[in-house]
Amino acid sequence: MANSLQGNLASTQHGERVATLIESISTEKVIQHGRLAGGGEPSAAAMVIREATEQDRQEIYRTRHDVYAVELGQHPQNPDGLLKNHLDQFNRYFVAIIDGQMAGFISVTPPEGGEYSLDGYLDRKQWPFEDRDRLFEVRLLTVKSGRRGSLLATALMYASFRAVEASGGTRLVVIGRTEVASIYRSSGYVDHGIELVKGDVTFLLMSATVDQVRKQVEKRPQLVDRIEQTVDWQLSFPLRKPAACFHGGGFFEDVGDGFQSLSRREEIINADVLDAWFPAAPGVISTLSEHLDWLVRTSPPTGCEGLIAAIAAARGVAETSVLPGAGSSDLIFLAFNQWLSSSSRVLLLDPTYGEYFHVCEKVLRCQVDRFQLRREAGFEVAVEQLQAQVADGDYDLVVVVNPNSPTGRHLPLSEVQSIIEATPASTLFWIDETYIEYVGSAHSLEQFGCQRKNVVVCKSMSKGYALSGVRSAYLCASPEILEPLRALTPPWAVSLPGQVAAVKALEDPEYYQRQYQATALARESMARDLQELGLEVIPSVANFLLTFLPADGPTAAQVVQHCRRSGVHLRDASNMGSALGTHALRTAVKSPQQNSQIVTAIAEALSTVQA
Ligand SMILES: Cc1ncc(COP(=O)(O)O)c(C=O)c1O
Repeated sequence: MANSLQGNLASTQHGERVATLIESISTEKVIQHGRLAGGGEPSAAAMVIREATEQDRQEIYRTRHDVYAVELGQHPQNPDGLLKNHLDQFNRYFVAIIDGQMAGFISVTPPEGGEYSLDGYLDRKQWPFEDRDRLFEVRLLTVKSGRRGSLLATALMYASFRAVEASGGTRLVVIGRTEVASIYRSSGYVDHGIELVKGDVTFLLMSATVDQVRKQVEKRPQLVDRIEQTVDWQLSFPLRKPAACFHGGGFFEDVGDGFQSLSRREEIINADVLDAWFPAAPGVISTLSEHLDWLVRTSPPTGCEGLIAAIAAARGVAETSVLPGAGSSDLIFLAFNQWLSSSSRVLLLDPTYGEYFHVCEKVLRCQVDRFQLRREAGFEVAVEQLQAQVADGDYDLVVVVNPNSPTGRHLPLSEVQSIIEATPASTLFWIDETYIEYVGSAHSLEQFGCQRKNVVVCKSMSKGYALSGVRSAYLCASPEILEPLRALTPPWAVSLPGQVAAVKALEDPEYYQRQYQATALARESMARDLQELGLEVIPSVANFLLTFLPADGPTAAQVVQHCRRSGVHLRDASNMGSALGTHALRTAVKSPQQNSQIVTAIAEALSTVQA
């Protein structure tokens, strides 16, 4: 008789409550109705999961009637053959469709309705959890019997969890039969030790915070992979929780990201991010200070016209070849989202700036290949090998961060040009020159890029011009490439302080040149100090150093943790590449005085922390 996928079924001879409460599975009755598809795991993407349409709902109500009213006799039969109740006004149903037929469904009762089916069982005073504001009840997991043993029930349960997570839920509650409690436990649900008995069936009241279920999900990544491969996910929320990319910036925990105590910034050294250690040019600071009140309350030029003109003049390119944005991160998301999809082939250096892995792999789910940079070779790009790898034009996009982060290595302009020239025009090159000013503007690919139809140069003004906070950047490319992106750029894309600061910064190249020279001296001196501590230091042209801690000493994570105590924030670089290992540590180059504090903090960590 009734039996569920993974045993998730109500037994048949119990009351109506059972039918409406428990995850249930239909029985032979439903099979006789001929609405069931065959068993076994559906082939790739053969299963659709979507929000129930009105038509689906009629089938759900009919199935419930077939099972609980007709078959089980637990509910008086209705002349219309449908079983539903008032919770259905606000219940969400997710259905699994296989071969055009409904193979299962699950329901989620959101808090907005103000009532749960649990209310029919237990007075709220006895509910064993307090956080009820964003409580969701998961109910009625129903899988037609021919689908037992397939991924279907798991996929529906996962869909219900994602629905709750994506709706800002904090807790899920379920009433599960004792026999199936282990399924919920393994999903992260906690048994509250409260039994609810109906007829011969004993239910356990179980609940979980969204964080608890999320932790369980993270422990079983293969399961989500399988769901992704098997299911055509047509729900309005994404199958995977949108991932965030880790960027350092941990110092804001010390400063307070609510900005309550900004002066605490003076007590910390934020060498975990690569912001410039020197202030923006005097003209930037004086203009912003003098006009701050007006700059803050005034709408900027809509299309950044003055900023575009200033960039074009400074770089010797046409205005139509410049597209500004609120930081290069803004432009990366704009462009990649426009150009790439899951079928796109992308080549990234490894290691490189983590946002590229994040956007291409995690957000857009492209097919990403990694071009390995080797520690034995000092992470220099092997030009001939790279050229050979891209020669057939199979990649849609090749990203070259130059100088690269976290390595600090630089590929000369002529070599980048020759790689591009030898590659079919079907491959687009994205050259990220965030740190190029530290080598010299003359080394930029901007002018070359504008002459070609397959090059985009991404120019952050954050790190080279000390403007990270105001978010100014631009793309430099042929107008044909930029025009579609320009159409998708909102008005006032860069704040007025950001536009003014960038224009003023470009007016004072001599000031910045002096800062780059000072940075180079500070970097070389810091590199020597770190080498004296026994660290391997990768030669760098930029305002940061990639180092490797002694292999027999504490890991980068341990050193980072220890240095934080003295207000020194460093970056554990292990996750910035696939082969960096556990001892890769990156530090920004700061002022000479701060650099000695950083070196002292590392020395102290190495001598104190047990490996
Ligand atoms: C290589 C690289 N590209 C881009 C960025 C993002 O810079 P922004 O968004 O501030 O322009 C960074 C920031 O660290 C970076 O290192």
